[in-house]
Amino acid sequence: MPSRQTILVFDTGLGGLTVLREIVRARPDVHYIYVADDAFFPYGHRSEDQIIARVVPLFGRLLEEHAPDLAVIACNTASTLVLSHLRAEYKTPFVGTVPAIKPACASSKSRRVSVLGTRGTVKREYTQALIRDFANGCQVTLVGSAELASLAESALRGGEVSDAALLQEIAPCFVEDGESRTDTVVLACTHYPLLMDRLVTLAPWPVEWIDPAPAIARRVVDLLGPDPGEAEPANAELIFTSGRSQLPRKALAPFFGGRIPA
Ligand code: DGL
Repeated sequence: MPSRQTILVFDTGLGGLTVLREIVRARPDVHYIYVADDAFFPYGHRSEDQIIARVVPLFGRLLEEHAPDLAVIACNTASTLVLSHLRAEYKTPFVGTVPAIKPACASSKSRRVSVLGTRGTVKREYTQALIRDFANGCQVTLVGSAELASLAESALRGGEVSDAALLQEIAPCFVEDGESRTDTVVLACTHYPLLMDRLVTLAPWPVEWIDPAPAIARRVVDLLGPDPGEAEPANAELIFTSGRSQLPRKALAPFFGGRIPA
């Protein structure tokens, strides 16, 4: 029997679980290792130099220890900066998560698209280049949120997060000018889909929310192949760089296709 493939999924915290969930649906047979760099969270508040100096050597250790077949950087704030460094440094294939500006601008009818990400992601040259190359005549509004990733973490942990606090972070995405108003919001931080139901309810008007997770799962399948179909679901591991578990592991089982990560 061929040995199990291993995928390492990395984020700064629990947001990358929204990407993991989609990949697990597409490839339930794979052995997953989810790494949350919570000791350095939130990356959105870190400088570019700090993030590069943190992530590149951290990956040296992770790849040596776990030897995955593929690594997914399930974080826009990191991917838009370190993906090229990781690919230059290590042979492992990397799949990144970057703002879904191209599909959003291709499908917007009102030609008004907002990109909601961390302050780091919206100011990256990588994001500016996506707008230059793929805005397709749309007016793109960049919204850098200082708090939404932390609010999503706390909501997932069962904390009280008020509607007012969420609305304050998303309100600048809703731009209205005469007849035309925003019809598409790119969720350019993997934490935000954790709040999807509340974002939909709080939106001043209905919009298309673009979550990149299904596209990332398709990319993983392109690289590793489809689910062979016969294998039992493999086990999964969850690593917090702080060494402290943020939540009972059982609570995170739905993101791992029902299995409780070790
Ligand atoms: N989940 C990360 C992203 O996709 C951001 C969270 C952070 O600021 O660390 O950008």
